[in-house]
Amino acid sequence: MDKELLKQTATALVASGKGILAADESNSTMGKRLKDIGKPNEESYRQAWRELMFTAPNISDYISGVILYDETIRQSTLAGEKFTDTLKNQNIIPGIKVDEGLVDCCDGENITKGLEGLETRLAEYAKLGAGFAKWRALIHITDTNPSQKCLDENAKSLAEYAYLCQKEGIVPIVEPEVLMDGNHTFERCKDATKQTLTSVFKALKERGVYMKGMLLKPSMVIAGSTCPIQATANQVAEATVEVLKETVDVDIAGVVFLSGGQSDEDATLHLDLMNKIGKAPWPLTYSYGRALQAAGLKAWSGEKENVTKAQEVLLHRAKCNSLASKGEYSPSMENV
Ligand code: 13P
Repeated sequence: MDKELLKQTATALVASGKGILAADESNSTMGKRLKDIGKPNEESYRQAWRELMFTAPNISDYISGVILYDETIRQSTLAGEKFTDTLKNQNIIPGIKVDEGLVDCCDGENITKGLEGLETRLAEYAKLGAGFAKWRALIHITDTNPSQKCLDENAKSLAEYAYLCQKEGIVPIVEPEVLMDGNHTFERCKDATKQTLTSVFKALKERGVYMKGMLLKPSMVIAGSTCPIQATANQVAEATVEVLKETVDVDIAGVVFLSGGQSDEDATLHLDLMNKIGKAPWPLTYSYGRALQAAGLKAWSGEKENVTKAQEVLLHRAKCNSLASKGEYSPSMENV
């Protein structure tokens, strides 16, 4: 394991004022996004959207790394430059999603699969230019779940994935997402998040994962999306930081949040408030998919004449999140 390389990459990904753009939607998820803007799920549209983002002027001011999907890491700009080169030329590190969907665990719960053949795939992705990877476990809250069994099985897979990545010189992003779907309370999400992260860090340590060479991608502590009582932004920020401090190893290189279906502005505000609290032992920044892309995608709507406008919209979100990662954001910045 090349610890120096891992540490260097992980640290670069959470450099001050920077975060990660999650552009690793599978072709079927990208199909849903394209449907929302009235466009067909064709490779030309998937390529065009990714090219628009990766070539947005000075996006590297705010973005340290981009998570790609298997199709995307092999694609090029229309002018013929590999996307991985487009990114690297801007000092942006290409990353790759390596999990492969869900299988049943128990009682309607799921485990993320993708360990089979992972070493071979990682070696190929490293050759294609990936410096980091992502694996997402999905944790559902219901009246009785998550079960400890489901948490432990997912944690074990995340740890094995992280170990294999590090062996290959690839920084693992460990993503246990506690889903917002459902009517569970804020307190329930807090408990489930604590239980999830405790299980994840136990498994990571048991597998000997190098903490300084990994990043954690957690969800925030938020009440279920259909829960009638929602916490305030300050409560979300405080509870999230509290849970992280209780469960997360102080040595990891950083925490890069997912947005998980929060509105764009909520995702930015919550991150900002966490950074305003301060005193976390790790950089707290973003690895947003929807909260970075949604507004730009809508502005683009699949039309060539909207490319410049869409890039401006994307850059605005990226800039707001960059400021939030330093605790320097204000909602008034949205009215420009
Ligand atoms: P969202 O920010 O849209 O939740 O996506 C982040 C991600 O990479 C999910 O795996």
